[in-house]
Amino acid sequence: MRFDVVDSTQRVAFDLADGGAADGTVVVADFQTAGRGRRGRAWHAEPGTSLLASIVVRPSLPVRLLPLLSLAAAVAVAEALVRAGGVAARLAWPNDVVIGGRKVAGILLESRLAAAPLCVVGVGVNVGARRFPGPLAARATSLAIEAGRAPDRDALLDELLRAFVAWRARLEREGFAPVRDRWLALSETIGRTVVRAEGTGVAVGLDDDGALLVRAGGAVHRIVAGDLVEMAGSDLPALD
Ligand code: BTN
Repeated sequence: MRFDVVDSTQRVAFDLADGGAADGTVVVADFQTAGRGRRGRAWHAEPGTSLLASIVVRPSLPVRLLPLLSLAAAVAVAEALVRAGGVAARLAWPNDVVIGGRKVAGILLESRLAAAPLCVVGVGVNVGARRFPGPLAARATSLAIEAGRAPDRDALLDELLRAFVAWRARLEREGFAPVRDRWLALSETIGRTVVRAEGTGVAVGLDDDGALLVRAGGAVHRIVAGDLVEMAGSDLPALD
């Protein structure tokens, strides 16, 4: 379903799902007045500059594996950006899509665990923006900036949905292994020194539930949620 303006495509998708909307229902808007980002943050984009989409997913997955849908979505976004946008994007854990270290797309997975779990996968891709305000300028980019032109948003959506349907099906049928292999191949995070409040370490892999594995001081630690700051050096205190 297409809208000019909504508060959040996530909210609309959940409402439609509550009213019985089928698995795979897609909500797209030109502008959001209250776009939602991860960890309670806002997601803002000027009207008409972004692909703003939410997909209703009624998953066939154990509840503990639901977060893996966001990794499957990240892989799908990266593939769609190559096919429709002609740009090679990389993945930053947990589910940012970046080009040259700047974020070009974000993914928000929201779930409701009633009798049957319901998920909405939200994707925001910076398509046509030519500049970003304030501190965002150093952290964000768009397809127009990277490729010199903005691809058609419908073509991008088609590629995204095609790739997401395929990767989701593989996740549900074959488990995490194929998605993990593809995510690792596209990863910008693995091999980097990362820092969190607990200290620093080197990202070395993904655990079976999508947690980031970080080696520090001879031990491997799991990071299950949160944001990473990548460091050029490794001269901060170790995690353990
Ligand atoms: C992030 O914080 O990186 C995730 C951002 C997700 C934004 C998208 S835009 C379409 C959908 N609707 C929302 O309100 N949020 C997601």
